[in-house]
Amino acid sequence: GIRVFNSIKDFRQWRRQILLDRQTLGYVPTMGALHRGHLALVSEAKKACDHVALTIFVNPAQFAPNEDLGTYPRTLQADLDALAQHFDRATVLVPQVAEMYPSGIEPDVTKQVGPFVEVKGFSHQLEGTTRPHFFRGVATVVSKFLNIVEPEQVYFGQKDVQQCVVIQRMIRDMHFNVHMNICPTVRESDGLAMSSRNTYLTPIQRKYALVLYNALKLMQEMYENTTKHAPTLVAAATELVNKTQQEAQAECEIKLDYISIASPSTLNEVTDDIKDGCIMSGAVYVGKTRLIDNLMLDVK
Ligand code: PAJ
Repeated sequence: GIRVFNSIKDFRQWRRQILLDRQTLGYVPTMGALHRGHLALVSEAKKACDHVALTIFVNPAQFAPNEDLGTYPRTLQADLDALAQHFDRATVLVPQVAEMYPSGIEPDVTKQVGPFVEVKGFSHQLEGTTRPHFFRGVATVVSKFLNIVEPEQVYFGQKDVQQCVVIQRMIRDMHFNVHMNICPTVRESDGLAMSSRNTYLTPIQRKYALVLYNALKLMQEMYENTTKHAPTLVAAATELVNKTQQEAQAECEIKLDYISIASPSTLNEVTDDIKDGCIMSGAVYVGKTRLIDNLMLDVK
């Protein structure tokens, strides 16, 4: 069955027994509102490890005051039901904010007190441009959870590619004793990347939500057939989003945040011809909902 712990102390007792039994633990951090993307991470963990643990925690430190912390979907019972439906066994830690942040956690970063983890050089570009404190919140909570769960393996989704880069660095440079696994993005049948935030979309917005994936695919297609010049590809993708925005105008508001082609090692923008594997990524607002997606360009 699905075992749920609400306290860190109780969870640790369970984890200690696994160690004493000389068995392995795989870990999947989540904010809940589980969908097939999350479940794919759990499946991967089950393949490689004797036991699997998830955390479900809507982490206040990674939301800016103007973001959706208050409305982020909290569907714990449905999440546990989905896990029970797909897996014979799993353990879930659902901690309280006060236990995760003993020094408290202020919405205003300038008033925050206590330890925080920052991965400098990888947190200010791409997603970090619009969300300057986001990766500090993510790195901080993931480091707390790695200290609590102490897994042999941890699983993240390619969907949040910059998060993968930031956490990979943190694990390496902070000497967390865990192996990181990155799993492919799970998509709806039409290609939309699964996200807990997709539940915000109205049917009309859902239709236009594909605009970002279409823009990324256009860059991939042009890269293969037309040009390797990154700024030209980004310009074409931007134009596609602008065109869709105009078509949608009466029905639904679309706003481009960014489209980027970046180096996977530095996350910096490619300003000339693409030479190595690259991250093509972007963010758009569909209505008030901010959607992100990415595709990796493999250069043969
Ligand atoms: P959350 O958005 O719940 O995502 C949890 C994990 O699921 C992340 O590793 C994310 O990349 C992965 N994921 C989400 N959608 C996916 C999809 N369509 N296909 C494959 N994997 C997908 O990411 C977070 O939570 C938080 O930032 C967290 C790491 C839990 C820290 O609070």
